[in-house]
Amino acid sequence: MSRCGRFHECLALGLLAVAVASGGVVAWRPWPHHFAEDGSSGEKNAALVAGGEAAALGESKKYEGSSEFVKLRYHMGPVLTANITVHPIWYGSWSPSQKHILRCFLRSISAPSAPRPSVAAWWRTVRLYTDQTGANISATVVLGAERSDRRYSHGRKLSRLAIQNVIRDAVAAPRRPLPVNPRGGLYLVLTSADVAVQDFCLTACGFHYFTFPAIVGYTLPYAWAGNSAVQCPGFCAYPFAVPPFAVGLRAAERPPNGDVGVDGMVSVVAHELAEMASNPLVNAWYAGEDPSFPTEIADLCEGIYGTGGGGAYTGQMLIDGRSGAAYNVNGVGGSKFLVQWIWNPYLSYCSGPNALDHQ
Ligand SMILES: *[C@@H]1O[C@H](CO)[C@@H](O)[C@H](O)[C@H]1NC(C)=O
Ligand SMILES: *[C@@H]1O[C@H](CO)[C@@H](O)[C@H](O)[C@H]1NC(C)=O
Repeated sequence: MSRCGRFHECLALGLLAVAVASGGVVAWRPWPHHFAEDGSSGEKNAALVAGGEAAALGESKKYEGSSEFVKLRYHMGPVLTANITVHPIWYGSWSPSQKHILRCFLRSISAPSAPRPSVAAWWRTVRLYTDQTGANISATVVLGAERSDRRYSHGRKLSRLAIQNVIRDAVAAPRRPLPVNPRGGLYLVLTSADVAVQDFCLTACGFHYFTFPAIVGYTLPYAWAGNSAVQCPGFCAYPFAVPPFAVGLRAAERPPNGDVGVDGMVSVVAHELAEMASNPLVNAWYAGEDPSFPTEIADLCEGIYGTGGGGAYTGQMLIDGRSGAAYNVNGVGGSKFLVQWIWNPYLSYCSGPNALDHQ
């Protein structure tokens, strides 16, 4: 219905020089393109900085990442070829409507019935990645059993390692523990807006890794994503909020589900799922020489939501005719979401189902 593109002005790169230190292992940063970081950031940033400049000059009609500098390689480890079951762990205070948005997104990944461009079509780029035997990442992603930790059992300030304690409590709970499924289970810790997490809002909006047997009892791929609504929406819920230094330069987009923090989290969750599926034990698909700082299939496309994206420009999104909200994919039950694109190993650039040349 509401298929109209919209072009966003680019932010001046100079204004984006906020001090963001290099991220930790597999951390998600929405604005990597603009930072030289430590100057030794290698392939990825060279590519992305080049893209940023192109965008600033208004030349970036078909940038969508860069092929030239990216050397994504397969490191022989497993990818998730078995049916994937996502187990959300709601840490802190979550309203039913917030849970509904995120569940609805997760249920849409394997729902081919949604109108185009669909969440399921977005997942198709992730499915292009295979393991040693040539088996693809699974098309089946289901929402599995969930847990809630409304009592903030580990406090309102969590270290990265404490996230694993939250997972241990969930799989070791005396009543209705989460099932332990090392083949296709993904454990997703979601922290509410009042929870501080190490590196949250400084370098990361989410991260993924695998649990340590010494803490959790098993090696399980897991991710964390935080609701940034009060702590740093301009950083982690962009473009539904803009960073303080950009207020007045550009307007925030309207979120498709009316919740800046949670609509912003959807893209972070999408990012982490794509990377957990393609690099669950951090020894499969990534670029860069240092396995402690892998550049993964979603890292390469941070902040890109449509054709022309790169630098400070999101790319062309869709605008809902009724609400005016920005989105790029449709989910089940008429839902809409904005999710970042994923690196396409064949095209050697970022791609997504709302690309103008897919229409
Ligand atoms: C599986 O991966 C191969 C290799 O990337 C690709 O050519 C093929 O299209 C993928 N199949 C599906 C169903 O995605
Ligand atoms: C995987 O999911 C498909 C549906 O997408 C189902 O038909 C199949 O039985 C599942 N396989 C297993 C092993 O659960």
